Amino acid sequence: MKVFVSGGTGFVGRHLVRRLLEDGHSPRLLVRKNSLHRIPPDVRDRVEVVEGDPYDLAALLEGISGCDAVINLIGIIRDFPKKGITFERVHFEATKNIADAAREKGVLRFLQMSALGVDWDELTEYFRSKWKADQYLIDHDFVYTIFRPSVIFGEGDGFTTTIEKLIRQSPVLIIPGRGEYPLQPVSVRDVVRGFSRALTLEASQKRIYQVTGPETYTYREVVRMVASAMGKRKLALHLPLRLIIPFVIVLERFPFFPLTYDQLYMLTKGSVGDNRAFREDFGGDLEDFPSYLEKRFGGR
Ligand SMILES: NC(=O)c1ccc[n+]([C@@H]2O[C@H](COP(=O)([O-])OP(=O)(O)OC[C@H]3O[C@@H](n4cnc5c(N)ncnc54)[C@H](OP(=O)(O)O)[C@@H]3O)[C@@H](O)[C@H]2O)c1
Repeated sequence: MKVFVSGGTGFVGRHLVRRLLEDGHSPRLLVRKNSLHRIPPDVRDRVEVVEGDPYDLAALLEGISGCDAVINLIGIIRDFPKKGITFERVHFEATKNIADAAREKGVLRFLQMSALGVDWDELTEYFRSKWKADQYLIDHDFVYTIFRPSVIFGEGDGFTTTIEKLIRQSPVLIIPGRGEYPLQPVSVRDVVRGFSRALTLEASQKRIYQVTGPETYTYREVVRMVASAMGKRKLALHLPLRLIIPFVIVLERFPFFPLTYDQLYMLTKGSVGDNRAFREDFGGDLEDFPSYLEKRFGGR
């Protein structure tokens, strides 16, 4: 199939493009001018590239023309309103623009990357904007498949890499609050396998999947697991949330500060779901987080 991919230069996108090629599909990537260098060298000659962004209707129409399906992965974890980078614009408006262009070109098959926990009445704009984007596809009669994953791990991820950096940089393991927030990390390998398979799987049409890994761990356990895989033995320091929150609220306005209140909220809310439908429809064993850590840090 010829597949229009937006967000193909990111962590998940790079894995997805390789998987699509392996499965015999032909990806056509929408890439911003300044991100052309982020297309991995090993796939550059095997994909079509349309230069542009999701706010450029001409690029969208050119990119989607002749495609059989769209996969949209565009997303951000942090907004910068002063620079015009808001969740509403990147999650909702981008999805709407791509969807409208797809409809104009008669392409209604739309695979959408959402996130576990999205809802209209959620406290954070991250979740609300993703919910609105999903709902737009549902309300406008697209043949959608929506994936709502927990945190995703794999080569080039932000999840393990951020924890790894914190462990390397600090003499102690800093844990916000009690750290008992449940997470069900899922492998990027399984996420992209699902997307690629969904293209031809009729059962996945008009379905929303919770995409989670095989096991649940608390955040505290995850930090311990990463530290132990790295061969680091450090004491844990639990910082009470009532002390961290005001600090984060003041400092989050500075881009150099690594955490926002929304991110802290999303962490403490946890991220677990029911992966039965995903497993039934997409099969295969789900990779577990400890196996990945072993591969990643096995040689340390
Ligand atoms: N990673 C996770 O743990 C996780 C968990 C749940 C859901 N998700 C969702 O999965 C998707 C992919 O995540 P990821 O981890 O691969 O993120 P990522 O590495 O940050 O990649 C994000 C992608 O979105 C594009 N993008 C961001 N802002 C854009 C904008 N304003 N206009 C056009 N393109 C823009 C980026 O393009 P450039 O290369 O041009 O910057 C990149 O291709 C996102 O929707 C995310 O919310 C991720």
